Amino acid sequence: MKMNKMEEIWMIIAVGLIIIAMGITGYQAFAMGMGPPSHQEHIDPQAIESHPEFSEPGVYELGDNQYEVIMTLQAFEFQPGEITVPEGAEVTFRMATKDVVHGVNVPHTNLNTMVVPGFIQEITQTFHEAGEYIMVCNEYCGVGHHMMSATITVEE
Ligand code: CUA
Repeated sequence: MKMNKMEEIWMIIAVGLIIIAMGITGYQAFAMGMGPPSHQEHIDPQAIESHPEFSEPGVYELGDNQYEVIMTLQAFEFQPGEITVPEGAEVTFRMATKDVVHGVNVPHTNLNTMVVPGFIQEITQTFHEAGEYIMVCNEYCGVGHHMMSATITVEE
């Protein structure tokens, strides 16, 4: 069967566009690290209190200008509720919820995520400006949702 010339040209263009699109997507995902989140660590929401890492929520100094915040979430509080870190430090938040889905948002920063039961959420943030930041829950979690917040003090 002989193909119409125009049909053949358009077919080549269509297939070419698909290959180009796949190439761009693949480049972004693998070379630029823009793929979907793949951090999947599981945790039993019922066993957080006895979990080796999450049984003691708090701010831990890991090394030179590196901090880790072990955080638990539950209706309607963040633990720890007060976090103090130095300006410019790299802060990794490791979070787990004891009950329902909660949100974690620090306005005017890139820190904005969800914490889903059964999974450990990890997010790293550097606070470049000293001051007081407020962390709020931005996922409706019940009657006290609007009161669920924590403060982050960034010291000079
Ligand atoms: Cu927790 Cu809304």
